[in-house]
Amino acid sequence: MSAESGAGATVRCEAAAPGTGTTTIRAQALEIVLPGGDGVGPWTATVEAGESLLVVAPSGAGKSTLLRALAGAIPQHVRGRVTGSLHVAAADGTGIDPVAEGVAATARAVAMLGQDPATGVCLPTVADDLALPLESRAMDPALIGSAIASALRAVGAEHLRDREAATLSGGELQRVALAGALIGEPSVLLLDEPTAMLDGHGIAAVRSALAAVPPQVATVLVEHRLDEWGADDLPGRTLVLDRSGRVLADGPTADILAEHGAGLVAEGCWVPVADELAAVAPELLEASADGATGAGARGAVDGAGGGAGGDGVPVPARADAPVAGAAAAPADRAPSAPLLLCARDLTLARGGCGARGGRGGHDDRGGRGGRGGRGGRGARGARDVLTGVDLDLRAGEVLAIIGCNGAGKSTLLTALAGLEAPRTGTVTGERAGFVPQNPEHLFIGRTVRDEVAIGDPAATDAALARVRLADLADRSPFTLSGGQQRRLAIAAMLAHSRRVLLADEPTIGLDRAATAQVIAMLRGVAADGGAVAMTSHDLRAVTACADRAAVLAEGRLQAVVPLEELVRDPCLLALAGMRIPPLVARVMAADLPLRGTLEDLGRRGARA
Ligand SMILES: Nc1ncnc2c1ncn2[C@@H]1O[C@H](COP(=O)(O)OP(=O)(O)OP(=O)(O)O)[C@@H](O)[C@H]1O
Ligand SMILES: [Mg+2]
Repeated sequence: MSAESGAGATVRCEAAAPGTGTTTIRAQALEIVLPGGDGVGPWTATVEAGESLLVVAPSGAGKSTLLRALAGAIPQHVRGRVTGSLHVAAADGTGIDPVAEGVAATARAVAMLGQDPATGVCLPTVADDLALPLESRAMDPALIGSAIASALRAVGAEHLRDREAATLSGGELQRVALAGALIGEPSVLLLDEPTAMLDGHGIAAVRSALAAVPPQVATVLVEHRLDEWGADDLPGRTLVLDRSGRVLADGPTADILAEHGAGLVAEGCWVPVADELAAVAPELLEASADGATGAGARGAVDGAGGGAGGDGVPVPARADAPVAGAAAAPADRAPSAPLLLCARDLTLARGGCGARGGRGGHDDRGGRGGRGGRGGRGARGARDVLTGVDLDLRAGEVLAIIGCNGAGKSTLLTALAGLEAPRTGTVTGERAGFVPQNPEHLFIGRTVRDEVAIGDPAATDAALARVRLADLADRSPFTLSGGQQRRLAIAAMLAHSRRVLLADEPTIGLDRAATAQVIAMLRGVAADGGAVAMTSHDLRAVTACADRAAVLAEGRLQAVVPLEELVRDPCLLALAGMRIPPLVARVMAADLPLRGTLEDLGRRGARA
C-alpha cells in the first residue's frame, strides 16, 4: 500500500495491512467534483489485493461518491467531473479504467453494495437476481444453484432464496444485496454501510462473510457501526476524509484512530468506543473491560439466560418462552399521560393475491384517526406479518420498536400511520407523521427547501439550519447523501407539526453528530407534548432516545418495557437480536443513567 498527499493534505504512508503485493486499485490525483461543487480528493494511493480499507468521514463528505467513482458510475452514469487517473485490476490481471469505461465494463472486477440495497437487486426473485451475474459469465447451469445457496448462506439469508425481492424487509434486502455482491467473485468489493439495517445476527453474518472473502480481493468499506465490528475485525487500513472530501490521513487503522480519534469525534464521526471515550470521557475508560460487561450488562452481552448463538448474539432460551415484562401492558406504564395513538388487536397480512390491505385513504405524509377494518382478508398465499398487536403511544414519550430483521417493525409503523389497512384490529388516535425506512420514498419537492416548505413555509430556513442543510436548500433532495436525505426527511416531517411522529430507523447512515441531532429532535417532539415511535437496530440510539421499548418477534409483540429493564433482560435482547454495545455496557458498569450519560457524551463529542 502507498498513499501520497493530495494538495495540502497530511497523509501517512506506512504499510498497513499485509496485501499480496498485487495492486488492485491505483488512484493518481483522483478528484471527483459533482455538479454543485461537492467532491472528493485528490486521492493518490494504491490498494493491494487482500487489503481492506475503511473510509471514515462525516456525513456528506463524499464516502459514497468515492465508491461510485471506483465502481465506474461517475461520470458515465452519475454526473460529475473526474480528473486524475484510476485503474482497477480484474481477477484475470487485465486492467480497467472505471472512469473511461463505465459501470458495465468495471463490473468485471468490481462489485458494490450500495447504501440503498434496493439499487443492488434488479430481478423479481432473489434466486433470479443472484443467478444473473453467473449466467452472464456463462457459468455451467448445473453449478448455479449451489453457488446461490452458498452466497445466501454466507450472509445468513438461505431462507430468502425463493422470495420476491420487492417484498423483503430493509435488512433482508441488505443481506441479499451483499450476497449479490459476493457471488460474482469480484477482485474489488465496495461496501457502503453494509450493516446499517441489520440485526445482531446479520452483523455477525456479514463479518464472517467478509472474513471469508478470498485473499485476492481488495475491500473498501464505509461503515458507521464500527463498535459492532470489534477492533479485531476492522480493516487494517483507514482513509480519513474531512467534511469537504479532502484526504486527511491514510494509514494503519490503529495509528489513525490513536492520532485522529479526538479530531474524528469532534468532526462528528463515529469511532470505536475506546477512541471515543479517550476523546470525550476518559473517566469512563477506567471501567475495565470486565467491568464493562459486568453486572446487568453481562447477561445481555454474553447471552446469559438464553445462551449465545453461533454468531455470539444471544438467543432466547425458548422461542415461545414467557418473557419478562411481557405481562406489563403498555397502557399500564404511563396511564396518566394522554393517549395519542392506540392500536388494538392489529393483524396484517402480506403477500398473496390482494393481501395488501391498501392505503388508509390519505396522503403519504401522515395517517388519520379511526383506521382499521378487514381489507385483504382471505387473500390466497398471504401470511400474517403482524398478529394481534396492542400498542399505546402516550404524550411525552419516545417508544422504540425493536426486533430482528423481518420481525414486522416497518409494517407496524405503516399500519400505525394508516398507510396500510390491517386485516383485523384498529388504530385510533391522532394523524401521525411518518418517516419511512428509505427516506427517498417521502420526497416530492423539487428542492430541499420545497420539501420542508410543504409542511411549514414560514419555518423552512430555521428547520434546515437545525439539521445542517441550509447550504443545500436549492439542491434536489435526490442528489443528497444518504445521511443528508434522512435528516431532510425528518425535518420535512417535523414541519407538519404533527404531535405523533413515526420514524422508521431514523438514525441509520448518520454520523455521530447527526445522530445526536436527530435524537434531540425526536426528544423535542416528546418534550412538546407529542409522542414518537421509532424503530432501530442500534441500541446506542435506542438507549439515548427512548423511554420504553416494544419488542416484536415474528410479528407478535413480546413485551413493552422501560429501557432500564430492556438492557438488563438478556431474553428480551435476544428476541430483538441485539447485543449491548460496548459504550452502553461501560455506562451501565459505571452505574450511570443511560439516557443522560449518552446524551452528555454526545454533547461532549460535539464540543470536543
Ligand atoms: N409484500 C409482502 N409480501 C410478503 N411478505 C412481505 C411483504 N412485505 C413485507 N413482507 C415480510 O413481512 C415481514 C415483516 O417485514 P418488515 O419490513 O415489517 O420487517 P422489519 O421488522 O421492518 O425488518 P427490518 O429490520 O429488516 O427493516 C418480513 O419477513 C418481510 O419479508
Ligand atoms: Mg424495517
